[in-house]
Amino acid sequence: MTSYSPRAAAQTLLDFIAASPSPWHAVERASHELESAGFIALDETARWSLRPGARYYVTRNASALIAFTLGSDPAQGITLIGAHTDSPGLRVKPQAADRQGDLERLAVEVYGGPILATFADRDLSLAGRVVLDTPEGLQTRLLHIARPLLRLPNLAIHMNREVNEAGLKFNKQTELPPIFAISNALTSAQRFRALLAQELNCAAEALLSWELAVCDTQAGVFWGAEEEFIAAPQLDNLASCHGALRALIDSPPSPQTALIALFDHEEVGSESSAGAGGSFLNDVLERIAQQQGLNPEDQQRARRQSFFISADMAHAWHPNFPQAYEPGHRIRINGGPVIKYNANQRYSTNAESAARFMALCAKTGIPCQHYAHRSDLGCGSTIGPILAARLGIPAIDIGSPLWAMHSLRESAGAADHAWLIQALSAALQRKSFEQKKAR
Ligand code: CO
Repeated sequence: MTSYSPRAAAQTLLDFIAASPSPWHAVERASHELESAGFIALDETARWSLRPGARYYVTRNASALIAFTLGSDPAQGITLIGAHTDSPGLRVKPQAADRQGDLERLAVEVYGGPILATFADRDLSLAGRVVLDTPEGLQTRLLHIARPLLRLPNLAIHMNREVNEAGLKFNKQTELPPIFAISNALTSAQRFRALLAQELNCAAEALLSWELAVCDTQAGVFWGAEEEFIAAPQLDNLASCHGALRALIDSPPSPQTALIALFDHEEVGSESSAGAGGSFLNDVLERIAQQQGLNPEDQQRARRQSFFISADMAHAWHPNFPQAYEPGHRIRINGGPVIKYNANQRYSTNAESAARFMALCAKTGIPCQHYAHRSDLGCGSTIGPILAARLGIPAIDIGSPLWAMHSLRESAGAADHAWLIQALSAALQRKSFEQKKAR
């Protein structure tokens, strides 16, 4: 197992996040890392021919990715890690520009559940994908404008006297559109299209459609007296995507298949072709089973040998808001991976899956922590229960400690990411750990 210094692991995460301002960028970056490590690209429309011990990846909608190392013994089933590529925020509408007075604003829709106030007074920009009409046919291009392009200036306190008592609120339709230009002779629509065309080095007439997210331009940093913390956009859930990716790349082939699935649309309920509620994972598992020559019964038997780890961020205890937490389950930053529990199945963990993960952490010398939400607050959920239900595979929900979940700029511990990678690597090689223990 590759071992990382905590600092190096956190730095590779910040680099991954910098390259991944949208789900499409995250999948492109992950694909590059997999290809450099010898993974072979598969196409869902092509015929597959898989060899035991070889490593593959496949994408759907260019925003979800499944990668795996095929095991030599199909009967041993699969260890799967799931995470999500999307983050809550603002997405651009098809009629993207909206003139008010002599200013051009961006028409945006709220995607998922961001903390909207964190978008104010920041150096914002755009990232996503654009479809062009070219002589060769439709062409999809990624777009990431790295410079500050957009801004949502606050209302001065002189006009919003109660802001510190009542909180910073934005009406989603009228007060949230960021400003991007002072109007000129062009119409709003022409102005926006000219901007994209310039960035993509194409004719404005070639622009057909787009999916664009508002992103932050500030790079991730280490902070604190000993630089013991990190801050960055999209730690939820690119930290888990990156941890799963590194764990798979680092894990040698084994009798059991090791697989990671990075889904889109978790923040909006997962019901899409690229989401955890869609057919992507099951379709790939079916094809793997066919390639392995498993009949339907043996496929079911192998599935029951499988184990699913849903990796998503966990709420770290915040000293300024102790009343927000369950006192018996304070999660420490730099305290190691967190197992998440919820009797109402908002998390998929059960006693047996928790014990298995605890044993793996103990074997590899990694601390682990245990989280339960306050009983008088609604608990968030993950892809864990969705996939546990769809696949009928024992599952667990884990993740690294995080402050300010769904802020445009979240923060976490600089030491936790190395532990996450090690824990996920151990999980992908769990058979060898569990067999060693049995001996
Ligand atoms: Co998440």
